[in-house]
Amino acid sequence: MRAHLLTVVLCLAVPATAGAQSIAHGKYLVERTSLCNDCHTPRDAKGELIMSQGLQGAPIGSAPIHPMPWADSVPPIAGLPPHFTSEQMVTFLETGKRPDGSMPRPPMPPYRFSHEDAQSVMLYIRSLKK
Ligand code: HEC
Repeated sequence: MRAHLLTVVLCLAVPATAGAQSIAHGKYLVERTSLCNDCHTPRDAKGELIMSQGLQGAPIGSAPIHPMPWADSVPPIAGLPPHFTSEQMVTFLETGKRPDGSMPRPPMPPYRFSHEDAQSVMLYIRSLKK
């Protein structure tokens, strides 16, 4: 009886907290493992990240020694880029491909998140103000 009650409580509890946990997990993945801010967030004169403008786009901070395709700037992604739906952002994070099938130029890494991690990263980025 007690085990049955526990199952009922767990079933009720999981959907209520899953969203918050996913955003928190997405924040962890973005800030602590994938380092999206290193490129997508502007820096002050000392080179420190301006976190009040987190993921709002920045100048490109490095250049290759040898000629190769290279981005001109780092676009804003806070709140999701305008031409990405939530589903398209998840696909992008799983495959590295934009909605039109193209891949961003280096130094944007072609990420291969799991579906669950991609959903968490999307939820976190979508929650940020543009
Ligand atoms: C090493 C630098 C770097 C890191 C780290 C990085 N990005 Fe990027 N990202 C870029 C650059 C540069 C571009 C633009 C590429 C271009 O113009 O072709 C870009 C493009 C993108 C785009 C395409 C935007 C559009 O408008 O088409 C998305 C989405 C994106 N990044 C998300 C992320 C996420 C999410 C992370 C972390 C999980 C991340 N990036 C980490 C450099 C980076």
